[in-house]
Amino acid sequence: DKAGHKHFMAKEIAEQPTVLANALSAYLTDGGIHFTDEGLDFTKTERLVMVACGTAFYACLTAKYWFERIAGLPVEVDIASEFRYREPPIMPGTTALFVSQSGETADTLAALRFCKDRADRILSVVNVAESSIARESDVALPIHAGAEIGVASTKAFTCQLNVLLLLAIEAAHQRGRLSDADKARMLDDLRGLPGIFNIALDRNEIVRTVAVAISEARDILFLGRGLMYPLALEGALKLKEISYIHAEAYASGELKHGPIALIDNTVPVIVMAPSDSLFDKTVSNMQEVMARGGRVVLITDAAGAARAGHDVWKTIILPEVSEVLAPILYALPAQLLAYHTAIAKGTDVDQPRNLAKSVTVE
Ligand code: F6R
Repeated sequence: DKAGHKHFMAKEIAEQPTVLANALSAYLTDGGIHFTDEGLDFTKTERLVMVACGTAFYACLTAKYWFERIAGLPVEVDIASEFRYREPPIMPGTTALFVSQSGETADTLAALRFCKDRADRILSVVNVAESSIARESDVALPIHAGAEIGVASTKAFTCQLNVLLLLAIEAAHQRGRLSDADKARMLDDLRGLPGIFNIALDRNEIVRTVAVAISEARDILFLGRGLMYPLALEGALKLKEISYIHAEAYASGELKHGPIALIDNTVPVIVMAPSDSLFDKTVSNMQEVMARGGRVVLITDAAGAARAGHDVWKTIILPEVSEVLAPILYALPAQLLAYHTAIAKGTDVDQPRNLAKSVTVE
């Protein structure tokens, strides 16, 4: 049931305010965050190893910034198909964390099994609570996204980020890195996120016009720094999956180390950059692109748009959010951009060629 939408993907994008609110009410109590009745202890955790594939891997890359910055916890992130055959040493004090929408991805499950007798504890963040990955974990945390039918993951990604951020906040608080007041403030910010998502969904029409403008391109670059780098990766993946346009993502600072050679006026460059502490550096990267004729699509907030100058080709303005929450919100324009570009190209949005919803073979 597409609930009045043309595609499951459109429905699942639009559902995000609701499913995020559901997930928050499942995990938040008056006093804080409730994961399990036994509680989840991070005080003895020395390192976190996070493993996943595809979009779930990008959720892990985002969470690495949170765990390191907020909780001071060292994090390694790996692609499951690499991790499982590399068989890396797992030190005592390691919590292994697997992220999977389906809970059935073969490589992720194999990586989990490798960690079983080696890690102190196996956690998973899953959408399907009865899945193999959930069953084989010590603790499985559901993301409460509801069934995701569209092959390109949308609401599962933002709901994965939501649970991963709750974990980072809890770990930070337990480890004395976050005061009661700061924890309460971050949780309040999170409670406001579904409402902000609703406002951001109103940007649908402007994103659609940008999508039509980029739909003729053969190649598209995505750039982001810090927390926006994994979002750039996710934006590029989403776009290539359903529109079949070749899209690549780079950390903005890597531009001059090679990819800038690709820039000319046929290559749109999507820059994802809220006006955070790194914004000025991103502006100078954008100027490098524009000086070479590159057409910049800037996804930012009102303050960022004001600081970016007049040479930007197109700007998508999102509501202001805290730096920590920005990656969850910025997933939305990335999803909408891929969706409308695919519509403009006439591709099959819900069933893109060559892809399966759940990859149970390696
Ligand atoms: C991208 C996408 C895939 C999945 C990946 C992992 O839109 O859907 O990249 O994220 O196949 O799947 P799960 O999360 O089920 O392990």
